[in-house]
Amino acid sequence: MIKDEEELTPAQIVDELDKYIIGQEKAKRSVAIAMRNRFRRKKLPEELRDEVAPKNIIMIGPTGVGKTEIARRLSNIAGAPFVKVEATKYTEIGYVGRDVESMIRDLTNIAVNDVKKEMSDEVESIAKERAEEDLLDILLPPVAFPRKAEIGNVAKDSVSSEATGADERRKKTRERFREMLKKGELEDKVVEVEVKQPKTQVLGMFAGMGLEEMDQNLSNMFGSVFPEKKKRKKVTVKEARKILEEEERDKLIDMDKAVKIAIERVEQSGIVFLDEIDKIAQKGSTHGPDVSREGVQRDILPIVEGATVSTKYGAVRTHHILFIAAGAFHMSKPSDLIPELQGRFPIRVELKSLTTEDLEKILTQPKNALVTQYSALLETEGLKLEFAPEAIAEIAEIATHVNSQTENIGARRLYTIMELMLEDVSFSAPELKGQTIPITVGYVREKLKTVLENKDLSKYIL
Ligand SMILES: Nc1ncnc2c1ncn2[C@@H]1O[C@H](COP(=O)(O)OP(=O)(O)OP(=O)(O)O)[C@@H](O)[C@H]1O
Ligand SMILES: [Mg+2]
Repeated sequence: MIKDEEELTPAQIVDELDKYIIGQEKAKRSVAIAMRNRFRRKKLPEELRDEVAPKNIIMIGPTGVGKTEIARRLSNIAGAPFVKVEATKYTEIGYVGRDVESMIRDLTNIAVNDVKKEMSDEVESIAKERAEEDLLDILLPPVAFPRKAEIGNVAKDSVSSEATGADERRKKTRERFREMLKKGELEDKVVEVEVKQPKTQVLGMFAGMGLEEMDQNLSNMFGSVFPEKKKRKKVTVKEARKILEEEERDKLIDMDKAVKIAIERVEQSGIVFLDEIDKIAQKGSTHGPDVSREGVQRDILPIVEGATVSTKYGAVRTHHILFIAAGAFHMSKPSDLIPELQGRFPIRVELKSLTTEDLEKILTQPKNALVTQYSALLETEGLKLEFAPEAIAEIAEIATHVNSQTENIGARRLYTIMELMLEDVSFSAPELKGQTIPITVGYVREKLKTVLENKDLSKYIL
């Protein structure tokens, strides 16, 4: 069900990324090519298709230059199951914590939900119609007509005509109710609905722990032991409609088919973004936390090389999942990773430190640029911020300066500077309604002066 014709070309992917990320052309190109390669592989004859392993990527670059941001944006345009995980989150198998296989389970869950969502969009209108009927049944419970045996010696004819008469009346009432429902006249009326209690909740109570980390087999076993529980609940018609629509949607979706499609997607085009990989790459001592770091690497290896992971939806083969790793590699180098893992990430791209010009652009150009964000936020208070171009250049200048004086945290510096600079307007905005505040170089310098003049202070505040 993956729509090949909608697959973006590398140039289009880069274009999309350009809307949010300034510079870092090489990284953008690499991820774009890797994504396109998946699409190319799918077109190969089967024998060859299985031979083509994904070219996994490591993005290397200082902190705050756009590594995670690229991943975040990529996930929106990937059109493929995508999960971003932090390498530091995992612990070696056998230790308390998340085992690395859970990243594949997360990816599968995401894919199943996506497919379910697509399928439920398709059945949306039918589900709505059925939910309306359900709601009418609740508002006007169907009465059981007396059965023939109980009617005794009353003439057959009269019964049936009486029944039809009542039937007619009920139908009319039902239609009246339908009208009222449609007009939204019953929204606040309280009705009683049966809601399914999620299995996990029932189980969670029983086991007293999160289900997620529980062994899959165990949860399946429990799942069949505990039947689905239903609970009666009083809710408004408005809420009831939501509940019933969801139930009807679930009934209409062929879950087996959804799971099959989802697993196929994960196996053929899934992408795992493995962030902070540098944090598990440390060589040297053979005791302490380092041992388990290498352990995590050893656990990750088979998954990257190609393994079969069991998920609650079935077995998932990881052989063709694309892995994009990223890390600052301040304290370690990619060569500190265990050799087998290095070999599995043949593509290395370096992200550059951001220049003052980059920072200047980051302030205004991305779709979610900080200047745009702050202006829009204050506009809700009837306040207009007017940034002079020189003022923006000044902010970028200051960010570069502070980055060089204290620690280089890249574009993240812009967040703290902007926040501090606009603190006063932010605070008094409601009283300044209707005004336009010109943000000039003078304004920027004035607001940041005290902090900038004191290096120790800037360490804490900026
Ligand atoms: N090149 C860039 N273009 C636009 N915005 C950027 C860029 N680099 C960083 N940013 C902004 O800075 C924030 C932090 O960047 P990001 O999360 O990508 O850092 P990172 O490279 O992953 O760093 P770390 O190694 O610390 O995880 C982002 O949310 C984004 O708003
Ligand atoms: Mg990051």
